[in-house]
Amino acid sequence: MIAIRQIQINFQNEQIGVTKLPIFSWKLESNNNETFQTEYELQIARDENFKNAIYTSDWVLTEKSIGIKIEENVELVSAKRYYVRVRVKSNYHEISDWSYTTFVTGIINQNLWKAKFITNPKDNRLVSDSSYFRGEANISKEIDEAYLFSTAKGVYNIYINGSKVSSDELSPGWTSYNKRILYQTYDVKDMLVDGANIISSLVGAGWYKGKIGFLNDRNNYGKSTEFLAQLIIRYNDGSYDIIGSSSNWMCKKGPIIFSEIYDGEIYDSKLEDELWTTLCAKKELIENNWEIVKELEGDLSILLPQASNRVKSNQIITAKQIITTPENDTVIDFGQNLTGWIEFKVNAKRGEKIIIECFESLDSDGNVYQENLRSAKQTIIYYCKGLGTESYKPHFTFQGFRYAKLTKFPDNFKMTDIKAHVIYSELDVTGEFKCSNQKLNQLQSNIMWSLKGNFLDIPTDCPQRDERVGWTGDAQIFCKTANFLTNAHGFYSKWLKDVEADQLVNGGVPHVVPDIISNNPKVEGDWLLSQGTHSAAAWADVAVLAPWNLYLIYGDKNILEEQFESMHKWIDFMNEHANDYIWNYKLQFGDWLALDAAEDSYFGATPNDLTCTAYFAYSTRIFSKICKILGKDEMSNKYRQLYECIKDKYQNTFINENNKLKIQTQTAHILTLYFDLAEEAWKKTIAADLVTLLENNNFHLNTGFVGTPYICHALSDNGYVNEAYRLLLNEDYPSWLYQVNRGATTIWEHWDGIKADGSMWSPDMNSFNHYAYGAIGEWMYQNILGIKVDEKKPGYKHFILKPLINKHLKSVVGSYDSVYGMIKVNWEMNSNNDVVIKLQIPVNTTATLILEDVINLQKESDICINNCEVINNNAMIKLGPGLYTFKYQQKQMINYNVTLDR
Ligand code: BGC
Repeated sequence: MIAIRQIQINFQNEQIGVTKLPIFSWKLESNNNETFQTEYELQIARDENFKNAIYTSDWVLTEKSIGIKIEENVELVSAKRYYVRVRVKSNYHEISDWSYTTFVTGIINQNLWKAKFITNPKDNRLVSDSSYFRGEANISKEIDEAYLFSTAKGVYNIYINGSKVSSDELSPGWTSYNKRILYQTYDVKDMLVDGANIISSLVGAGWYKGKIGFLNDRNNYGKSTEFLAQLIIRYNDGSYDIIGSSSNWMCKKGPIIFSEIYDGEIYDSKLEDELWTTLCAKKELIENNWEIVKELEGDLSILLPQASNRVKSNQIITAKQIITTPENDTVIDFGQNLTGWIEFKVNAKRGEKIIIECFESLDSDGNVYQENLRSAKQTIIYYCKGLGTESYKPHFTFQGFRYAKLTKFPDNFKMTDIKAHVIYSELDVTGEFKCSNQKLNQLQSNIMWSLKGNFLDIPTDCPQRDERVGWTGDAQIFCKTANFLTNAHGFYSKWLKDVEADQLVNGGVPHVVPDIISNNPKVEGDWLLSQGTHSAAAWADVAVLAPWNLYLIYGDKNILEEQFESMHKWIDFMNEHANDYIWNYKLQFGDWLALDAAEDSYFGATPNDLTCTAYFAYSTRIFSKICKILGKDEMSNKYRQLYECIKDKYQNTFINENNKLKIQTQTAHILTLYFDLAEEAWKKTIAADLVTLLENNNFHLNTGFVGTPYICHALSDNGYVNEAYRLLLNEDYPSWLYQVNRGATTIWEHWDGIKADGSMWSPDMNSFNHYAYGAIGEWMYQNILGIKVDEKKPGYKHFILKPLINKHLKSVVGSYDSVYGMIKVNWEMNSNNDVVIKLQIPVNTTATLILEDVINLQKESDICINNCEVINNNAMIKLGPGLYTFKYQQKQMINYNVTLDR
């Protein structure tokens, strides 16, 4: 039996607010091995019974089941739910049942925007407080469909008739507001009543107006917050209404008297006003200090829909223990470093002040450690209503914390009165990894928690200190890992649009996106940024590498088309500023934070000429492939030639006649190997030299942001599997597991965030929630589980399974829910080297399983294996969809210690 497990729209499970015909994909399931799709039929209709189909593909003879783009001109109208159904035929001549989904359109025709941005005339540019807005919508006919479209310059929550419209938080998120503001679409039919309805919103400063960026600036985008909402109601009689924010709306200062991303929130519940959400006459509002809003003539052409991946409270963590520190502070420990906010319950007197300060770590004496937050206060202040038990959680801020200091809190509280909300962009979890080494499992958990901690609408470097910006380099090196752990397609695609929007006219890519530094006059006085605000190798390369990864992982060619100009401009920028193919430019971060840096320097020892030119070559080669994929053959050749020239120059400059690197750093070797910059015959020497460098360093890495993501790849791809494992499993400083041993629950920015003696790295830059070094996650999925994409058949249509089965681990169980469906790998090896490996290959895909050092290979069950070759104990087995079990004995492995003493 063949069945459709899930239809995806634009690679997401849900799309609410699309303005063009989406792209469809579906995941198939079957109880037969070797099941492939042979045909599909897809229909789109205006009604759930499919009586009014606006598109029907009829049976299409194809195996293609992902990235289906309808080329025909199918017209969509705004504010309408569309129904989609798909069914497929298989090579077993079965027909699946129809599988159903829907999507909702946003505002397609710009003329349909009738709402105006409105503001509170009392909004003061220097104050990050809040405003209440309220408007009314009268309904007298029966509703067929009703959608609310809303956004703010600032951050907002929206309510209809007193109920919050959705679980979205911190909407509309952070984009390059001057160029793109996202609006949210909500299906509100069930919230509206016959007669008068009240639409209310609470708007705060957020990224738009509050302090943000390490230059500590406020008003980066504007002086006052603004809000916009528009209801489109379709009635059963065929008519419709558009009701939008306008000068008919009223406003008043809200109970949030301060709220900013870094510093927290101050909420005076005594200022709450029930009239905000209750029906009343204008006169009553005016008597209660409400006033008419100011209507603004904002540019509505920059409004774009946000159809998925909105920020939500995705998890709740209970308090794990109450600590009294040596300095006598009362501290709640949540047992997990996270990003979000605290919710608490109190029973206190009217006006009583509650103060809670959030922070990440205790110091070596067990006292509250806040220095690494720099100027970020992360403090919640709440003035009680005093009407019995009341609860509160913040609105327009977020904190990075594991601990909460109860600076002022009623004594008689219970642990259950305080909990933590984990706030991040909604993402489907796609990766699972569990192995026999608990510390590696903790490392995976830490990586996932740093993803949750930093994927809050944009990919941030860290969530706690006064930074929290979209550093392009961090997002670049973590992209593949993020997309193993979660379906981050929508999250990255959204942010890449800002990368493009903020890209300079000359093609330069800002260091941070949204770019709040390039035009900032304070840059001149900054020790670092005064040297340059854009175009650093590995950072700016996100413009090419992130779309490329999304293409490989999701098989999404569309993203290459959409980002093409941005990529092209970036490659040309490097070319233009290269000197005889050696590229380097103004401020470079190099192998940022590498341990081979000079004393007191953040910059690793690998010269910028090398890191920059290596990335120049790598991105150019990928860009040439992209041109080819998009059918731009001439361009592809041109950039292929450019790549060859860069590679030649790289070899002539950095590799000597003995095939050795002139730069004796780990990172120089890693980049040369991983970016394929050496001739095949030289790689043996270079890889051996990398191992020698490690041995000379007591077999520890000393790499930073540039070398670390690829170090294990460079080893295992070049025959040093044991060494890769050994590095991964090191437990003393510097290593991934050193942090785990020190109790880390997220990934640290520094290898020695907390030193062996318990003291802290300098507080000026010591984040305990920085996913960059978590890029090792990708190596674990690709090599321990062995799941590798095949560039020629992206999206895992065909993939390589090459688990590096190794004595370092007894067993591994893992999976990746690809765009085609679930890939599962499960292996174990006993002390006799007997291996059992179990696999699941999704319907409609194929895989090539590669096993090394194999003796006596047996397959369990009588499944047919297309093709199996064993040469010199290396097996290559072609597999179709289905479940497989293999057993074999692994040839005597090179003993771990022997390798060490070589
Ligand atoms: C950030 C990094 C970032 C770097 C630039 C730091 O302050 O936290 O993660 O990439 O600056 O080098």
